[in-house]
Amino acid sequence: MASLPQSRSIPSGSPNRDALGLPAARQFPPAMKLPPFFEENRVTVDAALERLIPAAVAQPTSIHTAMRYSVFAGGKRIRPILCLETARIFSSDIKPALHPACAIEFIHTYSLIHDDLPALDNDDIRRGKPTCHKKFGEAIAILAGDALLTLAFETVGATPAAAERRAAILSEVAAAAGTINGMVGGQVADIEAEGKPVDPQMLEYIHRSKTAALIRASITAGALCAGAASEDVNRLRRFGETIGWAFQVTDDILDVEESSAALGKTAGKDMAQQKATYPAVYGLERSHQIAKDLATKAIAELAPFSDRAARLREIAEFLVLRRA
Ligand code: IPE
Ligand code: IPE
Ligand code: MG
Ligand code: MG
Ligand code: MG
Repeated sequence: MASLPQSRSIPSGSPNRDALGLPAARQFPPAMKLPPFFEENRVTVDAALERLIPAAVAQPTSIHTAMRYSVFAGGKRIRPILCLETARIFSSDIKPALHPACAIEFIHTYSLIHDDLPALDNDDIRRGKPTCHKKFGEAIAILAGDALLTLAFETVGATPAAAERRAAILSEVAAAAGTINGMVGGQVADIEAEGKPVDPQMLEYIHRSKTAALIRASITAGALCAGAASEDVNRLRRFGETIGWAFQVTDDILDVEESSAALGKTAGKDMAQQKATYPAVYGLERSHQIAKDLATKAIAELAPFSDRAARLREIAEFLVLRRA
């Protein structure tokens, strides 16, 4: 099995603003700069999101303003980029995959808006800005989340792919967002585990459901959209599930090790809220090792794609070495 490099060093852009004009607080630290294809994809994804989301002036303007505020607040766009780069393994035309890519970013953003609500994690900062409910009030934040979820399925429904493939993508995305081993199920378990001792099985269930499921769907949707054979879709499903799990272990680690300014969200909250996290159960050192081992296992699934999966491998490495 290939092992991961210890660090990455890729040239950085402007020190104060990134390519999308986002403030430096949302930039990756200089040692963690990404390859140019990442930034190119981010620009493509942002343009597609702009085309697919209603204008702020559309009635009722308050909800559209809130939806746009959270979608364009400065997320890393990991999920849509994974979707596009998975599609690229099978086709040079990745444009159709922009639909599921953006749909999953809408669902992800909805999950963050609701995750930040006082009834859930009660967070004031997200993507370096006041959370949706802090800015627009709880009623509009709840509705903005609902609306993004609905918009996501309208977006998947418009995917320019064969009807059978479109239906398969829809099932993948819906299941990943749902209650059976999906995002909502994981969020329920996360909330219910607060302040209680958690065993390794429950911790794994929470992370695979609340986070890995949607990351897995980004990858399988990209593969399905680009015409991958079912054997390849299944292989990529395993890759997505494992790298998504590693992604949440890393999120837990960063909550302990990084600053709020670097993360664009409140650091140190997991311990304060007695959340079920890898550092809480295994300690920091073992958590780093677990994230690294999971990434290595995930990357091994990509072997049959050889050079065609070079970009996916780079993203997978970044997901566990990132500092934000
Ligand atoms: C944060 O996801 C929530 C988790 C599932 C860990 P990201 O780290 O991808 O957040 P953004 O999209 O970049 O803000
Ligand atoms: C969030 O997990 C998972 C979601 C489904 C939104 P966290 O609660 O750890 O995410 P952050 O740290 O607030 O981004
Ligand atoms: Mg949470
Ligand atoms: Mg949270
Ligand atoms: Mg977290």
